[in-house]
Amino acid sequence: MKIPLMKCAFSHEEETKRKLAEFIISAPRLSMDKQCAMFEKEFSTYQGQRDGIFFNSGGSANLAMFQALKNLGLLKNGDKIGFSALTWSTNLMPIIQLGMEPVAVDCDSHTLNVMSHNLKKRLADTKLQALFITNALGFAGDLDEIKNICHENKMLLLEDNCEALGTELKNGGKTGTFGGMASFSFFVAHHMSTVEGGMICTDNSEYAEMLRIVRANGWDRNLTPAQQEKWRARYGVGSEFEAKYTFFDLGFNLRPNEMTGFLGRSQLKYLPENVIKRQEHYLRLEKTMLSNPDLLGFTHDHIKLLSNFAFPVMCKSMELREKYVSIFEKAGVEARPMIAGNIQKQPFYKKYVSKLYELPGADAVHDCGFYCGNCPELNDEELNIIADALRKK
Ligand SMILES: Cc1ncc(COP(=O)(O)O)c(C=O)c1O
Repeated sequence: MKIPLMKCAFSHEEETKRKLAEFIISAPRLSMDKQCAMFEKEFSTYQGQRDGIFFNSGGSANLAMFQALKNLGLLKNGDKIGFSALTWSTNLMPIIQLGMEPVAVDCDSHTLNVMSHNLKKRLADTKLQALFITNALGFAGDLDEIKNICHENKMLLLEDNCEALGTELKNGGKTGTFGGMASFSFFVAHHMSTVEGGMICTDNSEYAEMLRIVRANGWDRNLTPAQQEKWRARYGVGSEFEAKYTFFDLGFNLRPNEMTGFLGRSQLKYLPENVIKRQEHYLRLEKTMLSNPDLLGFTHDHIKLLSNFAFPVMCKSMELREKYVSIFEKAGVEARPMIAGNIQKQPFYKKYVSKLYELPGADAVHDCGFYCGNCPELNDEELNIIADALRKK
């Protein structure tokens, strides 16, 4: 494959690997420690949020988010949770795993995302306790309006920003700052990589505290001394010895390690320039895409900075999708389905969820969409190969 989804594991790969090797040799400790804590600070500062809680994957971050909300009594078994119909499996799997009911909210095929009109339509037939919105492929919905609707309907708003790190809306700023908390993924093919890794950013200190309990076994070791004192007093834990193995609430082991903390710190430095490159590539390829009458364009007027995750293509029919996927493959450009398509059609969904909704937007994306990679390292020659594949045949 000439142009795989992702060309390399890291920005400045050779130097990063060498520095990682040096770090491993000299680090006094490799389990979660100072590098992770510093990365949390630096990443949450980049996002402009109070707290960052680092995890071993984006999927783990999503799982922890729902466990934390249940531990805090803000969600309970049987609650109906809206989620974007165009998303990733481990976005909504925790909803099922933790005993709640996922309710699909359609996406708009022109923006690839849930728009306020999609949410209003769902709320007209179903009352939701929360909305877990995915900012898909670096695009996003009208999140300012969606935030207002959630507020008016007393619903929690949570964001899965695993595919849109760096995107900024004209109204309201960076994606991942509209809800009570937002998740991020640092898996290799994402905007920045720690090989495996994830984060939750939040301005809510109560969420952050519970997320740290959920992340590590349900204990209090990663809390501040004042927070530890509060938990220990509440449960009559009288000594440091006893506190070592006191488990206050439900949790998992979803901890990152110092190698990933080190990588996060080194890769974060390249993020702003990489986001610009992703947008430049997208806009360059979009011109060719819009000149092809077999293909549909996307609306991104409401987006100030488009941190495109992968380059999406929407064909005017299923037959044309088949044709263009084959053209891409023959040109050596890796093509993939548009994330999980209409996720209600996935085998796991049918096994566990009985209530299905009409989702014309997600169906269109499922049947007629695909994407190829857009990484900052694409060179002129590679961008021209993709542009050629996008031309009318
Ligand atoms: C929207 C979305 N959410 C969650 C995830 C899970 O992230 P991870 O692979 O780090 O577990 C992904 C992964 O690609 C994703 O695209």
